[in-house]
Amino acid sequence: MENLLEVEHVTAQFIQNDQPLTVIHDISFHVQKGEIVGLVGESGSGKSVTSLSIMKLFKGTTGSIRSGSIKYKNEVISNYNEAKLRKLRGKQISMIFQEPMTSLNPVMKIGEQITEVIRLHTSHGKKEAKKHAVTMLKKVGISRAEEVLNEYPHQLSGGMRQRVMISIALACNPELLIADEPTTALDVTIQAQILELMKEIQTDLGMSILLITHDLGVVSEMCDRVIVMYAGRIVEEAQVDALFDNPKHPYTQGLIRSIPQLGEKIDSLFSIPGQVPPPSQMPKGCKFAPRCHKVMSICSEKEPPLMTDEKGGRCSCWLYEEDQDD
Ligand SMILES: Nc1ncnc2c1ncn2[C@@H]1O[C@H](COP(=O)(O)OP(=O)(O)OP(=O)(O)O)[C@@H](O)[C@H]1O
Ligand SMILES: [Mg+2]
Repeated sequence: MENLLEVEHVTAQFIQNDQPLTVIHDISFHVQKGEIVGLVGESGSGKSVTSLSIMKLFKGTTGSIRSGSIKYKNEVISNYNEAKLRKLRGKQISMIFQEPMTSLNPVMKIGEQITEVIRLHTSHGKKEAKKHAVTMLKKVGISRAEEVLNEYPHQLSGGMRQRVMISIALACNPELLIADEPTTALDVTIQAQILELMKEIQTDLGMSILLITHDLGVVSEMCDRVIVMYAGRIVEEAQVDALFDNPKHPYTQGLIRSIPQLGEKIDSLFSIPGQVPPPSQMPKGCKFAPRCHKVMSICSEKEPPLMTDEKGGRCSCWLYEEDQDD
Protein backbone atom coordinates (compact mmCIF):
# COMPACT_ATOMS: atom_id res chain seq x y z
CA MET A 1 0.00 0.00 0.00
CA GLU A 2 1.07 3.51 -0.79
CA ASN A 3 1.94 5.84 2.07
CA LEU A 4 0.11 9.12 1.81
CA LEU A 5 1.44 10.75 4.96
CA GLU A 6 4.72 10.02 6.68
CA VAL A 7 5.59 11.61 9.99
CA GLU A 8 9.25 10.98 10.73
CA HIS A 9 10.91 11.57 14.10
CA VAL A 10 8.93 14.72 14.81
CA THR A 11 9.63 16.59 18.02
CA ALA A 12 7.59 19.70 18.81
CA GLN A 13 7.77 22.25 21.59
CA PHE A 14 6.15 25.29 23.11
CA ILE A 15 7.86 28.09 24.99
CA GLN A 16 6.62 28.47 28.52
CA ASN A 17 8.04 31.03 30.95
CA ASP A 18 10.87 31.60 28.46
CA GLN A 19 11.74 27.90 28.61
CA PRO A 20 11.29 25.43 25.76
CA LEU A 21 8.90 22.66 26.74
CA THR A 22 8.94 19.59 24.51
CA VAL A 23 5.45 18.11 24.20
CA ILE A 24 5.91 15.69 21.26
CA HIS A 25 8.95 13.40 21.33
CA ASP A 26 10.35 11.72 18.26
CA ILE A 27 7.01 10.67 16.79
CA SER A 28 7.03 8.51 13.66
CA PHE A 29 4.01 7.03 11.91
CA HIS A 30 2.37 6.83 8.52
CA VAL A 31 -1.09 6.83 7.00
CA GLN A 32 -1.70 4.78 3.86
CA LYS A 33 -3.99 5.62 1.02
CA GLY A 34 -7.61 4.79 1.89
CA GLU A 35 -6.77 3.92 5.48
CA ILE A 36 -8.44 5.15 8.68
CA VAL A 37 -5.87 5.48 11.43
CA GLY A 38 -6.93 6.25 14.99
CA LEU A 39 -4.77 8.37 17.27
CA VAL A 40 -5.77 7.78 20.88
CA GLY A 41 -4.62 8.65 24.38
CA GLU A 42 -5.81 10.50 27.45
CA SER A 43 -6.12 14.26 27.58
CA GLY A 44 -2.74 15.95 27.33
CA SER A 45 -1.01 13.05 25.58
CA GLY A 46 -0.20 15.20 22.54
CA LYS A 47 -2.81 14.16 19.98
CA SER A 48 -3.81 17.67 18.94
CA VAL A 49 -0.25 18.94 18.85
CA THR A 50 0.64 16.01 16.58
CA SER A 51 -2.13 16.98 14.17
CA LEU A 52 -1.22 20.67 14.28
CA SER A 53 2.41 19.75 13.56
CA ILE A 54 1.44 18.00 10.35
CA MET A 55 0.09 21.22 8.85
CA LYS A 56 2.31 23.57 10.90
CA LEU A 57 -0.75 25.20 12.40
CA PHE A 58 1.06 26.89 15.27
CA LYS A 59 0.05 30.44 14.38
CA GLY A 60 -0.75 32.50 17.48
CA THR A 61 1.09 30.07 19.77
CA THR A 62 4.73 29.58 20.73
CA GLY A 63 4.67 26.10 19.19
CA SER A 64 7.14 24.83 16.61
CA ILE A 65 8.59 21.64 15.18
CA ARG A 66 12.14 21.25 16.49
CA SER A 67 13.24 18.23 14.50
CA GLY A 68 12.02 15.54 12.15
CA SER A 69 10.11 15.84 8.92
CA ILE A 70 6.67 15.34 7.45
CA LYS A 71 6.17 13.91 4.00
CA TYR A 72 3.01 13.96 1.94
CA LYS A 73 3.06 11.78 -1.17
CA ASN A 74 6.79 11.39 -0.79
CA GLU A 75 7.38 15.12 -0.75
CA VAL A 76 8.70 16.85 2.35
CA ILE A 77 6.04 19.39 3.39
CA SER A 78 7.42 20.32 6.80
CA ASN A 79 9.66 22.92 5.15
CA TYR A 80 6.83 24.43 3.07
CA ASN A 81 6.14 28.11 3.57
CA GLU A 82 2.70 29.38 4.55
CA ALA A 83 1.60 29.99 0.94
CA LYS A 84 2.48 26.47 -0.16
CA LEU A 85 0.85 24.97 2.92
CA ARG A 86 -2.33 26.94 2.31
CA LYS A 87 -2.59 25.39 -1.14
CA LEU A 88 -2.30 21.95 0.37
CA ARG A 89 -4.86 22.62 3.08
CA GLY A 90 -8.43 22.07 2.09
CA LYS A 91 -7.64 20.73 -1.35
CA GLN A 92 -5.47 17.74 -0.47
CA ILE A 93 -5.40 17.72 3.31
CA SER A 94 -8.45 18.86 5.26
CA MET A 95 -8.83 19.29 8.97
CA ILE A 96 -11.73 19.19 11.38
CA PHE A 97 -10.64 20.92 14.55
CA GLN A 98 -11.36 20.01 18.12
CA GLU A 99 -13.25 23.26 18.72
CA PRO A 100 -15.75 23.59 15.84
CA MET A 101 -17.28 26.74 17.28
CA THR A 102 -14.03 28.63 16.93
CA SER A 103 -13.30 27.48 13.41
CA LEU A 104 -16.49 28.86 11.85
CA ASN A 105 -16.59 32.60 11.27
CA PRO A 106 -19.47 33.95 13.41
CA VAL A 107 -20.19 36.95 11.15
CA MET A 108 -20.22 35.09 7.84
CA LYS A 109 -23.16 33.16 6.46
CA ILE A 110 -22.64 29.42 6.19
CA GLY A 111 -23.02 29.60 2.40
CA GLU A 112 -20.23 32.16 2.05
CA GLN A 113 -17.93 30.06 4.23
CA ILE A 114 -18.43 26.90 2.22
CA THR A 115 -18.27 28.54 -1.21
CA GLU A 116 -15.14 30.44 -0.19
CA VAL A 117 -13.33 27.13 0.40
CA ILE A 118 -14.71 25.61 -2.79
CA ARG A 119 -13.72 28.60 -4.91
CA LEU A 120 -10.26 28.76 -3.37
CA HIS A 121 -9.50 25.23 -4.46
CA THR A 122 -11.50 24.74 -7.66
CA SER A 123 -12.21 26.67 -10.82
CA HIS A 124 -15.92 26.79 -9.91
CA GLY A 125 -17.73 30.08 -10.52
CA LYS A 126 -20.10 31.51 -7.92
CA LYS A 127 -23.16 29.60 -9.11
CA GLU A 128 -21.39 26.28 -9.45
CA ALA A 129 -19.77 26.71 -6.04
CA LYS A 130 -23.18 27.32 -4.48
CA LYS A 131 -24.60 24.24 -6.14
CA HIS A 132 -21.68 22.19 -4.88
CA ALA A 133 -22.17 23.63 -1.38
CA VAL A 134 -25.80 22.45 -1.37
CA THR A 135 -24.72 19.00 -2.50
CA MET A 136 -22.12 18.82 0.27
CA LEU A 137 -24.56 19.97 2.97
CA LYS A 138 -27.04 17.33 1.81
CA LYS A 139 -24.27 14.73 1.92
CA VAL A 140 -23.72 15.44 5.60
CA GLY A 141 -27.41 14.97 6.24
CA ILE A 142 -28.63 18.57 6.21
CA SER A 143 -31.88 18.35 4.28
CA ARG A 144 -32.78 22.05 4.36
CA ALA A 145 -29.43 22.91 2.79
CA GLU A 146 -30.62 25.93 0.77
CA GLU A 147 -31.92 27.61 3.92
CA VAL A 148 -28.83 26.81 5.95
CA LEU A 149 -26.66 28.57 3.34
CA ASN A 150 -28.31 31.84 4.34
CA GLU A 151 -27.90 31.33 8.06
CA TYR A 152 -25.16 32.32 10.49
CA PRO A 153 -23.35 29.79 12.71
CA HIS A 154 -25.19 30.93 15.87
CA GLN A 155 -28.52 30.03 14.27
CA LEU A 156 -27.50 26.38 14.10
CA SER A 157 -27.38 23.72 16.80
CA GLY A 158 -24.02 22.24 17.83
CA GLY A 159 -24.67 19.09 15.80
CA MET A 160 -25.58 21.12 12.71
CA ARG A 161 -22.49 23.29 13.08
CA GLN A 162 -20.32 20.19 13.27
CA ARG A 163 -21.99 18.81 10.14
CA VAL A 164 -21.26 22.10 8.41
CA MET A 165 -17.61 21.83 9.49
CA ILE A 166 -17.44 18.32 8.09
CA SER A 167 -19.03 19.42 4.82
CA ILE A 168 -16.49 22.23 4.50
CA ALA A 169 -13.67 19.78 5.27
CA LEU A 170 -14.93 17.39 2.61
CA ALA A 171 -15.99 20.00 0.02
CA CYS A 172 -12.87 19.64 -2.13
CA ASN A 173 -12.57 15.85 -1.93
CA PRO A 174 -9.42 15.88 0.18
CA GLU A 175 -7.19 12.86 -0.01
CA LEU A 176 -6.43 13.08 3.67
CA LEU A 177 -8.80 14.19 6.42
CA ILE A 178 -7.37 14.95 9.84
CA ALA A 179 -10.29 14.92 12.25
CA ASP A 180 -9.54 15.97 15.83
CA GLU A 181 -12.32 14.77 18.15
CA PRO A 182 -14.92 15.48 15.45
CA THR A 183 -17.85 14.30 17.53
CA THR A 184 -16.81 14.65 21.16
CA ALA A 185 -18.97 17.72 21.77
CA LEU A 186 -22.07 16.06 20.33
CA ASP A 187 -24.70 13.88 21.91
CA VAL A 188 -24.46 10.16 21.31
CA THR A 189 -27.07 9.82 18.56
CA ILE A 190 -25.69 12.65 16.47
CA GLN A 191 -22.17 11.37 17.11
CA ALA A 192 -23.10 7.96 15.68
CA GLN A 193 -24.79 9.59 12.67
CA ILE A 194 -21.80 11.75 11.88
CA LEU A 195 -19.28 8.93 12.23
CA GLU A 196 -21.42 6.76 9.96
CA LEU A 197 -21.48 9.60 7.48
CA MET A 198 -17.71 10.11 7.60
CA LYS A 199 -17.18 6.43 6.98
CA GLU A 200 -19.63 6.46 4.06
CA ILE A 201 -17.93 9.43 2.44
CA GLN A 202 -14.54 7.85 3.14
CA THR A 203 -15.59 4.70 1.26
CA ASP A 204 -17.12 6.74 -1.57
CA LEU A 205 -14.12 8.97 -2.08
CA GLY A 206 -11.38 6.56 -1.00
CA MET A 207 -9.81 9.18 1.22
CA SER A 208 -7.59 8.51 4.21
CA ILE A 209 -8.51 9.66 7.70
CA LEU A 210 -6.38 10.36 10.74
CA LEU A 211 -9.02 10.17 13.44
CA ILE A 212 -8.06 11.67 16.76
CA THR A 213 -10.19 10.68 19.69
CA HIS A 214 -9.98 9.53 23.27
CA ASP A 215 -13.00 7.30 22.67
CA LEU A 216 -11.83 3.73 22.03
CA GLY A 217 -15.40 2.72 21.20
CA VAL A 218 -15.25 5.08 18.22
CA VAL A 219 -11.86 3.65 17.24
CA SER A 220 -13.13 0.07 17.19
CA GLU A 221 -16.03 1.10 14.94
CA MET A 222 -14.09 3.25 12.54
CA CYS A 223 -10.41 2.49 12.31
CA ASP A 224 -8.14 0.06 10.47
CA ARG A 225 -5.10 0.77 12.58
CA VAL A 226 -4.53 2.47 15.92
CA ILE A 227 -1.72 4.54 17.37
CA VAL A 228 -1.68 4.99 21.14
CA MET A 229 0.02 8.06 22.56
CA TYR A 230 1.10 8.74 26.10
CA ALA A 231 2.94 11.80 27.41
CA GLY A 232 3.88 13.00 23.93
CA ARG A 233 5.19 9.62 22.78
CA ILE A 234 3.84 6.75 20.73
CA VAL A 235 3.63 3.79 23.10
CA GLU A 236 1.79 1.27 20.94
CA GLU A 237 0.58 0.76 17.41
CA ALA A 238 -1.37 -2.14 15.95
CA GLN A 239 -4.12 -3.14 13.56
CA VAL A 240 -7.43 -2.46 15.27
CA ASP A 241 -8.38 -6.13 15.84
CA ALA A 242 -4.95 -6.97 17.24
CA LEU A 243 -5.09 -3.97 19.55
CA PHE A 244 -8.44 -4.92 21.07
CA ASP A 245 -7.76 -8.69 21.13
CA ASN A 246 -4.28 -8.46 22.50
CA PRO A 247 -3.31 -5.02 23.81
CA LYS A 248 0.36 -5.19 24.77
CA HIS A 249 1.21 -1.98 26.58
CA PRO A 250 -0.18 -1.84 30.14
CA TYR A 251 -1.40 1.67 29.25
CA THR A 252 -3.41 0.37 26.29
CA GLN A 253 -4.72 -2.45 28.48
CA GLY A 254 -5.90 0.17 30.98
CA LEU A 255 -7.55 2.28 28.29
CA ILE A 256 -9.45 -0.75 27.00
CA ARG A 257 -10.51 -1.77 30.51
CA SER A 258 -11.86 1.77 30.97
CA ILE A 259 -14.33 1.50 28.07
CA PRO A 260 -17.80 1.54 29.63
CA GLN A 261 -19.69 -1.70 28.96
CA LEU A 262 -23.37 -1.64 28.18
CA GLY A 263 -25.35 -1.94 31.41
CA GLU A 264 -22.31 -1.50 33.62
CA LYS A 265 -22.76 0.57 36.75
CA ILE A 266 -20.92 3.88 36.65
CA ASP A 267 -19.32 3.32 40.06
CA SER A 268 -17.81 0.00 38.99
CA LEU A 269 -16.10 1.55 35.96
CA PHE A 270 -12.35 1.01 35.86
CA SER A 271 -10.05 3.97 35.43
CA ILE A 272 -6.26 4.02 35.25
CA PRO A 273 -5.02 5.45 38.57
CA GLY A 274 -3.14 8.75 38.49
CA GLN A 275 -2.77 11.27 35.69
CA VAL A 276 -0.65 12.08 32.65
CA PRO A 277 2.34 14.01 34.04
CA PRO A 278 2.69 17.56 32.70
CA PRO A 279 5.57 18.00 30.21
CA SER A 280 7.61 19.85 32.86
CA GLN A 281 7.40 16.97 35.33
CA MET A 282 8.21 13.89 33.31
CA PRO A 283 9.61 10.98 35.31
CA LYS A 284 12.88 9.34 34.30
CA GLY A 285 12.56 6.10 32.34
CA CYS A 286 9.15 5.00 31.09
CA LYS A 287 6.73 7.91 31.44
CA PHE A 288 3.91 5.54 32.35
CA ALA A 289 5.87 3.70 35.05
CA PRO A 290 4.42 5.63 38.02
CA ARG A 291 0.90 4.51 37.01
CA CYS A 292 1.74 1.03 35.75
CA HIS A 293 0.61 -2.09 37.62
CA LYS A 294 3.31 -4.17 35.93
CA VAL A 295 6.18 -1.84 36.70
CA MET A 296 9.67 -3.39 37.01
CA SER A 297 12.88 -1.86 38.31
CA ILE A 298 14.27 -1.08 34.84
CA CYS A 299 11.14 0.96 34.02
CA SER A 300 12.00 3.88 36.25
CA GLU A 301 15.62 3.81 35.04
CA LYS A 302 15.50 3.63 31.26
CA GLU A 303 12.92 4.66 28.73
CA PRO A 304 11.93 1.62 26.63
CA PRO A 305 12.43 2.00 22.87
CA LEU A 306 9.46 1.61 20.52
CA MET A 307 9.99 -1.98 19.40
CA THR A 308 8.51 -3.56 16.28
CA ASP A 309 7.01 -7.03 16.71
CA GLU A 310 6.67 -9.91 14.24
CA LYS A 311 3.23 -8.67 13.12
CA GLY A 312 4.49 -5.19 12.33
CA GLY A 313 2.93 -3.68 15.44
CA ARG A 314 4.95 -1.46 17.74
CA CYS A 315 5.10 -1.22 21.51
CA SER A 316 7.40 0.56 23.93
CA CYS A 317 7.41 -1.50 27.07
CA TRP A 318 10.21 -3.45 28.79
CA LEU A 319 7.85 -6.43 29.18
CA TYR A 320 8.41 -7.22 25.51
CA GLU A 321 12.13 -6.66 25.22
CA GLU A 322 12.83 -10.25 24.11
CA ASP A 323 10.17 -10.02 21.35
CA GLN A 324 12.08 -7.34 19.52
CA ASP A 325 12.32 -7.99 15.81
CA ASP A 326 14.83 -5.68 14.19
N1 LIG B 1 -0.72 26.43 22.84
C1 LIG B 1 -0.05 25.73 23.77
N2 LIG B 1 0.88 26.32 24.57
C2 LIG B 1 1.55 25.60 25.50
N3 LIG B 1 1.38 24.28 25.71
C3 LIG B 1 0.48 23.64 24.95
C4 LIG B 1 -0.30 24.33 23.94
N4 LIG B 1 -1.12 23.43 23.34
C5 LIG B 1 -0.88 22.25 23.94
N5 LIG B 1 0.07 22.37 24.90
C6 LIG B 1 0.59 21.28 25.77
O1 LIG B 1 0.97 20.19 24.94
C7 LIG B 1 0.64 18.95 25.57
C8 LIG B 1 -0.18 18.12 24.60
O2 LIG B 1 -1.43 18.75 24.41
P1 LIG B 1 -2.51 18.30 23.33
O3 LIG B 1 -3.48 19.40 23.21
O4 LIG B 1 -1.83 17.83 22.09
O5 LIG B 1 -3.18 17.05 24.05
P2 LIG B 1 -4.38 16.14 23.52
O6 LIG B 1 -3.88 14.74 23.51
O7 LIG B 1 -4.91 16.70 22.26
O8 LIG B 1 -5.45 16.30 24.71
P3 LIG B 1 -7.05 16.40 24.63
O9 LIG B 1 -7.54 14.98 24.61
O10 LIG B 1 -7.41 17.08 25.90
O11 LIG B 1 -7.44 17.17 23.41
C9 LIG B 1 -0.11 19.30 26.86
O12 LIG B 1 0.80 19.19 27.93
C10 LIG B 1 -0.51 20.73 26.64
O13 LIG B 1 -0.55 21.42 27.87
MG1 LIG C 1 -6.68 17.52 21.68
